[in-house]
Amino acid sequence: MPVQPVQLAPSMMCADFLHLEREVRLLEKYEVEWLHIDVMDGNYVPNFTLGIDYCRALAGATSIPFDVHLMIEHPERHIEPFCALPGARVTFHPETVYQPVRLIERIRELGASPGIAIDPAQPVECSRHLIPLVDQVLVMTVNPGYAGQRLIPHCLKKIAEVREFIVREKLAAAIEVDGNVSWSNIPKMIEAGADILVVGTSSLFEKHRPHEESLCELRQLARR
Ligand code: DX5
Ligand code: ZN
Repeated sequence: MPVQPVQLAPSMMCADFLHLEREVRLLEKYEVEWLHIDVMDGNYVPNFTLGIDYCRALAGATSIPFDVHLMIEHPERHIEPFCALPGARVTFHPETVYQPVRLIERIRELGASPGIAIDPAQPVECSRHLIPLVDQVLVMTVNPGYAGQRLIPHCLKKIAEVREFIVREKLAAAIEVDGNVSWSNIPKMIEAGADILVVGTSSLFEKHRPHEESLCELRQLARR
């Protein structure tokens, strides 16, 4: 069975907001698989970022599907418009909702693809009953909320733990890695089991380097 290349999910909170159309056309040229949309409410995380109006405007300009990362309290109250985005994946943090199984079912009912995110403080074990139900496990390798942070070392091992669990239980969920996906961390993250990389200021959108050059290098690294 040929090994699939690692997928790229550019973190749009890190894109150049003043030249968004140009950024998206470049991402289309390199056929990135997802646009990673970080939604933050200032409660679950102490920051605010992108919202549904931004998503709707962007969805009108590109057919790249959205990988929506909800870092919000009570996601069950807000998922409908995000699930309505064409081909959307909607990922939430289980500790932000009383009944995560019900929310996973609801995301599927709404026609979107569900994912769960594992915070650096949460052991993989806490999600063992959820991983079989979702299409994606997002392993946070930084504290949720801000771009430009450093990798939390123990989170690398969690990628491998999730991979072991998925292989052992013969599950289909993809492993997405989010946070300080840097040139030096990427090989370790892929080695540990990453299927999708959220690429932000640590690689694709790093300052003082043409994004096209970074995309070329990312495509090379993604070939495993
Ligand atoms: C963290 C965000 C990110 C990511 C940005 O809350 O979910 O999208 O960290 O990329 P970096 O970490 O490379 O700036
Ligand atoms: Zn994210």
